[in-house]
Amino acid sequence: MRILDGIEELRAWRRGLEPGATVGFVPTMGALHDGHLSLVARAREAAEVVAVSVFVNPTQFGANEDLDRYPRDREGDAERTGSAGADAIWFAREEEVYPPGFATTVDLPPIARRLCGLDRPVHFPGVALIVLKLFHLFRPTHAFFGEKDYQQCVLVERMVRDLDLEIEIVRCPLVREESGLARSSRNSNLTPEGREVGVALSRGLFRAREAFDRGERDAARLIAGAAVEIEDPRISLEYLELVDPVTLAPLDAVDPERGGRLLVAARLESVRLIDNIALGGEGGGA
Ligand code: PAJ
Repeated sequence: MRILDGIEELRAWRRGLEPGATVGFVPTMGALHDGHLSLVARAREAAEVVAVSVFVNPTQFGANEDLDRYPRDREGDAERTGSAGADAIWFAREEEVYPPGFATTVDLPPIARRLCGLDRPVHFPGVALIVLKLFHLFRPTHAFFGEKDYQQCVLVERMVRDLDLEIEIVRCPLVREESGLARSSRNSNLTPEGREVGVALSRGLFRAREAFDRGERDAARLIAGAAVEIEDPRISLEYLELVDPVTLAPLDAVDPERGGRLLVAARLESVRLIDNIALGGEGGGA
């Protein structure tokens, strides 16, 4: 596997690929775990060339967020991506991605200010900006995003359609630890006790899914059932919302054909955790 450093090296590598080759791209912020690697494996199935980027993107972090505490593991990342079958990994340098004078931004639709965007207004504009820049650098035919970040999937798909990018966005299912906790680079900032307490989020989502499978369709009751499981003095809930899987508009009731998505965000030991589950629709459930 090629380890690429610097924008010029990346560009030279990209220019050297067979014209017309399918290129599968997996953008990440590193500290790679099995969730990320499932995207690499999916890319390996779908494309002739597989590339991964690693960049803890400062523009998607607010002033008081965990940019400095975000885990970094360059050697481990290179080793794991190579074993997962990628052809290249690029470690971006901040001074090259955002040189002095950088000023362009990406404006997003109003759903970027809801859910994860409510408490983190700079987050999705920062994500859209870096994803768009990475798309131009890698020029992929396919790009892989995890449903762990459900709102991010929806917004990236919107941007790709709105800006006529010729890239197929492939959504990959959320990968969990055995306990049920959604895998996240941030989990390494939890204590062992925190990891146990954090399982409550997925327990809540699974409880809602069971209720849905038994025939419950009312959003308030589905949410209340999940909330009972999540309730814990150590967990500070940011949101727990049942939304339309496409528009992310809040639902009063789930139409099983169209489905719903139950999304949660919470803080635990100052670590921000997110998780979500499909209720009906294509994604899952009765
Ligand atoms: P990061 O959190 O590193 O995630 C990179 C990709 O891996 C995202 O598409 C994310 O949804 C996926 N992923 C993370 N954990 C996962 C899990 N448990 N199961 C399935 N997929 C998982 O998301 C970002 O980085 C950044 O916002 C980025 C898109 C790279 C822009 O900076």
